Amino acid sequence: MKVLVSGGTGYIGSHTIVELLNNGHEVIAFDNFYNSKPEVLNRIKTITGKDIKFYKADMLKKDELEVIFNENEIDAVIHFAGLKAVGESCRKPILYYTNNICGTLNLISVMDKHNVRNIVFSSSATVYGETDTVPVDETMPVGHATNPYGETKIMQEFILSDLYKANNNWTVTLLRYFNPVGAHESGLIGEDPQNVPNNLTPYISQVAIGRLPHLNVFGNDYPTPDGTGVRDYIHVVDLAIGHIKALDASCGKKGVFIYNLGTGKGYSVLEMVHAFEKATGIKINYKITDRRAGDIAILYADTEKAKREIGFVAQRGIDEMCRDLWNWQKKNPHGFE
Ligand code: NAD
Ligand code: UD1
Repeated sequence: MKVLVSGGTGYIGSHTIVELLNNGHEVIAFDNFYNSKPEVLNRIKTITGKDIKFYKADMLKKDELEVIFNENEIDAVIHFAGLKAVGESCRKPILYYTNNICGTLNLISVMDKHNVRNIVFSSSATVYGETDTVPVDETMPVGHATNPYGETKIMQEFILSDLYKANNNWTVTLLRYFNPVGAHESGLIGEDPQNVPNNLTPYISQVAIGRLPHLNVFGNDYPTPDGTGVRDYIHVVDLAIGHIKALDASCGKKGVFIYNLGTGKGYSVLEMVHAFEKATGIKINYKITDRRAGDIAILYADTEKAKREIGFVAQRGIDEMCRDLWNWQKKNPHGFE
């Protein structure tokens, strides 16, 4: 298939492009480099030995999207482009709603105009809101997010679902990611946070490399075995493969399809710290601090539907997640700079 990847130089987009190329798909990608670097494109070429067609384009500028759709016969779009920092979204809600919602509306209106009606969308487990039932499955109600970023994911799910209600020729796949971590095993691409990381594993690896003094563990009084928060961490390469499975399964089908992409296993903050120490031999200094506002105790996926309908089962465990994260961090102590 000819697949357009929005946000293609970002963390998950770049890993997905590698898997698309490995699986014989033709890739066209765009990004505005708001949160990524052009160097990613060289790294993808080094890993795969293959070329992609790339456009520097902003999804807020419809004319730039028009150029891409005029110049290419696109079969499907995998839509990663968006802003994703929870804290920043609370400080800059207008930026987040404008970029994520208006950007998506521009993209789908240009797709519709060009009769491209197959979209795979990067959603998040955040849409389940503050649930206390685990594992979460796809039939559980979409809740309320605790921040504008999460609200944009919920709104985008509704907008995309309405496309199919209005026109039964659409194929909409909503992929609800749990916690993507790790990096490509080559160490050539990985997550490159621009500021102090918000998420756990890039924070741990920056402590290990000496960029940060210690990890703050946000609370050890949760109702979990060791008191720290439990999440479903999924290796980014498994997540990328999940997109290929979802895309392949979408061929010839019409409708709205929703899948959790996780491993179905939960690990606590301290278990992740210890797994990272085991994988790297480096001691991670940490301090227990107050809970972070908006955090829940425990969240992991019910993975049965993804297994049954698209044949997706994550293969990589936390040892590989930590090993590959560290390999990337060591080879690129300052990211793509
Ligand atoms: P990322 O920031 O690394 O990648 C997103 C890319 O989109 C960036 O390269 C950015 O420059 C680009 N972008 C942003 N606004 C754009 C615009 N207006 N026009 C063109 N490009 C634009 O993030 P990621 O971790 O790769 O996440 C990809 C998607 O998955 C996002 O939609 C994110 O919300 C979603 N998601 C991520 C996680 C996670 O933990 N990483 C979890 C759940 C969902
Ligand atoms: C967070 C976001 C979620 C987003 C997801 C993307 C919040 C409240 N939620 O989810 O909306 O979709 O990232 O991956 O921000 N932790 C620490 N110290 C740290 C960082 C994290 O102890 O420095 C703990 C957290 O309390 C949590 C676990 O580690 O228990 C995982 O945190 P994180 O990586 O931020 O992911 P989520 O909170 O699951």
